[in-house]
Amino acid sequence: MAGIRVEDIAKSILSGETDDKILSQLAQSRRQQKVFKLEIRFNPHEMQRAFLESPSRFRIVCAGRRGGKTMGCVADEVRFAWEHPKSRCFWVAPVYQQTMRAFRMMVDFLPPKVITRIERTDRRLWLVNEAMIEFRSATDYENLRGEGIDFLVIDEAAYVAREAWEASLRPALADRMGRAVIISTPRGRGWFYELWQRGAARNDLFMASFRFPTSANPYIPREEIEQARETLPADVFQQEFEACFLEESAGVFRGIDKCIKGEIEYPSPDGNYVIGLDLARTTDYTVAVVMETGRKHVVYMDRFTKCDWQTQIERVAALSRRYNNALILMDSTGVGDPILSEIDARGLEVEGYTFTNQSKRALIEGLVLAIEKGGITYPHMEALISELRVYEYEISTTSNAVHYSAPSGFNDDCVIALALATYQSDNTWVRERVKR
Ligand SMILES: Nc1ncnc2c1ncn2[C@@H]1O[C@H](COP(=O)(O)OP(=O)(O)O)[C@@H](O)[C@H]1O
Ligand SMILES: [Mg+2]
Repeated sequence: MAGIRVEDIAKSILSGETDDKILSQLAQSRRQQKVFKLEIRFNPHEMQRAFLESPSRFRIVCAGRRGGKTMGCVADEVRFAWEHPKSRCFWVAPVYQQTMRAFRMMVDFLPPKVITRIERTDRRLWLVNEAMIEFRSATDYENLRGEGIDFLVIDEAAYVAREAWEASLRPALADRMGRAVIISTPRGRGWFYELWQRGAARNDLFMASFRFPTSANPYIPREEIEQARETLPADVFQQEFEACFLEESAGVFRGIDKCIKGEIEYPSPDGNYVIGLDLARTTDYTVAVVMETGRKHVVYMDRFTKCDWQTQIERVAALSRRYNNALILMDSTGVGDPILSEIDARGLEVEGYTFTNQSKRALIEGLVLAIEKGGITYPHMEALISELRVYEYEISTTSNAVHYSAPSGFNDDCVIALALATYQSDNTWVRERVKR
């Protein structure tokens, strides 16, 4: 095969030239295709095989964390693109970081000579057969509208907005009768659950559903799963590892909706307020949550990004003044005393909370309890509520430790600011009672 570039063969096939040389090249390229196929080293486990071999146009796969959903679909999309010259394939995930993981996996999967072009900024891959694979995050789902899609994967679909599917992606599959694999760990009973139900009921060429636990993946050590079973609350384990659709999504916080009450409130002259503050470091947001300490109601939340320290401090100081010189409790990990003293210098009361694994855990567990018991309330603040919903347990694979954090690509600034405000409200409350 020496001296023949696969790209040239592809071009000549497309230009419709049919002389003998081209035909022999074509035969050769066919042989090469076979070679390429063999080079994609992927041996699906039994449950992956079940959905990969299904001929259904829409396949809905609900599986435990690390069950092999992403890898299975990466292999599937590669296969489809390879077998369908000029096809337009999409990979959609809730956030940018997740699309990048699939992107890298795919580049690893494909023999280099199959890829003719990689557009890293637009996250597009072009194959020698002119098939294109494009990676998009669903954060801005208006951007997903567009021309026909032949093959679509939606990864972690339960974290993707219903509108992204219904208004953008589903219609884009219509004109070319595109196929879709929609995969996720379960999370409550949203559109992913509805679709999964429909697929399970139909189980035909149009749509079929699949479900398997993490333990179906033989590449995950048993001990890791057992450890998770022991350390996690039962419902979280059921949802995340056993792939059960629970009635209310299991997460760190339970009872989030019950705490949504009341409105944003202007400062009242005799109100006692505290502020929980999480300053932006590099890429995230600065969030200040103002809480009235008597009813423990969140009366206001300020959330902004892309400011220098000085501007951030000014803005928070102004907020504190507005709310009767509200005492500020801030996450002082890593930023240290200078920032504290700057706020202090403006005549405001400020205290720092340093995060260690343990102190963070205590802080979050305080908030878990407050929300579960309905001990705090907040108005319908979209950013805050969605952060609370996706907040996660993370089980270390090297130690038994359980950490709390936002899933990769999501923010937790609102959660931290709310936890700090709740903690400070408790303290202020105690102090006042002691005073009396
Ligand atoms: N068929 C397979 N062969 C080898 N490793 C696999 C296979 N399926 C999954 N894995 C490995 O299992 C882990 C979890 O797979 P992944 O696809 O990321 O799971 P999920 O998307 O369900 O969370 C990854 O490290 C992946 O490499
Ligand atoms: Mg995955």
